[in-house]
Amino acid sequence: MLPVELNSGIFWIGVDDRTTDLFEGLWPISREGVSYNSYLIKDKKKAIIDLTKSIKGDEFFENINKIAAVNDIDYIIINHMEPDHSGILRTFRKLCPGAMILGSQKTKEMLQDFYGIKDNVEVVKDGDEISLGEKTLKFFYTPMVHWPETIMTYEVSSKILFSCDAFGSFGVLGGSIFDDECKNIDFYIDEAVRYYVNIVAKFSKMVLRAIDKLKSITVEVIAPSHGRIWRKNPGTIVELYRKLASLAEEEAEPGITLIYGSMYGNTENMMNAVAQGISKTQTPLRIFDVSRTHVSYILPSLWTQSGVMIGTPTYEAGLFPTMGDVLRMATLKSITNKKFAMFGSYGWSGGALREIKEIVEPAKWQLIDSFEFKGGPTEEELKKGEEFGRKFGELIKNK
Ligand code: FEO
Repeated sequence: MLPVELNSGIFWIGVDDRTTDLFEGLWPISREGVSYNSYLIKDKKKAIIDLTKSIKGDEFFENINKIAAVNDIDYIIINHMEPDHSGILRTFRKLCPGAMILGSQKTKEMLQDFYGIKDNVEVVKDGDEISLGEKTLKFFYTPMVHWPETIMTYEVSSKILFSCDAFGSFGVLGGSIFDDECKNIDFYIDEAVRYYVNIVAKFSKMVLRAIDKLKSITVEVIAPSHGRIWRKNPGTIVELYRKLASLAEEEAEPGITLIYGSMYGNTENMMNAVAQGISKTQTPLRIFDVSRTHVSYILPSLWTQSGVMIGTPTYEAGLFPTMGDVLRMATLKSITNKKFAMFGSYGWSGGALREIKEIVEPAKWQLIDSFEFKGGPTEEELKKGEEFGRKFGELIKNK
């Protein structure tokens, strides 16, 4: 995409990434893509805020050159060191060795660790300001949103907050960058939830702390380094992040994530009966086949809903492996304090429930009930399964 002016002298110069399949080598974005938003401020001094991953270098540098000569940039502000925002830095350095890199003390250390860069690096402190001429940049330390070195940059005259990962989402921009130009904003809201839970949720306490810290400034535009720029309704994305971060401590909404796996259809048959029972209670229900759905798409439901129904066969006297993968990732991402129930088929010995407990008990998941059956479910067992689902649905709905 070509540069887009946010405000007089302040430009978006990022790139859309439609070819990376796995963000961080983990999270699928083949269908959605992602943008690496970078910003150039042209004043007496010229500053770039965050860069891009080391892809599409030609497009990125040409975008800069449309506004100012690359070797004429005075400052590179590194809000966050993760290589999706800094990967092109070494190339940048070769083209513009005189630009001063600004970041936190930890950024200074990481610059050496990641890229061997030591020279022309200056540490900014929390609350520091620098003047570019008519425009002023103010820096806020926001550690662990998403790495320990992270800062945010605020341009005082335009009231634009460059928030990097915070308030970001998956999804390429595709021709327009602002929220008010977007005809499918729900897509970016959904992808902001997925991005939050996949990438940032573990650090929710620090997200709340950062949002609190920003109360001291008036923000008219949120310009993150992934996804939409929020100029019409910046409060939408801030409130979404605040609500998501609050769920780390508060009970989630009444709703059930039904995750199941099935080898030959027996557990799936029971899953349908259990789902029918839950549905009778009108409790919100989302169903995921763990063998066919990447955990990236399951985590948002687990984070935002209070109940988990697990349907899993016993596999080699233990837990069905893909179910184990989902539960382990959920606990790694600090998805805690869930109420759960479990059902499933076994051939000759159980074992799945024991392993589930080992995985989720440290995350304070509370077992409400369990129901296992041998081989294929009988008519009687299916009826029992429906009632099992109904009871769990009632319990979650009425909490
Ligand atoms: Fe978008 Fe934590 O990097």
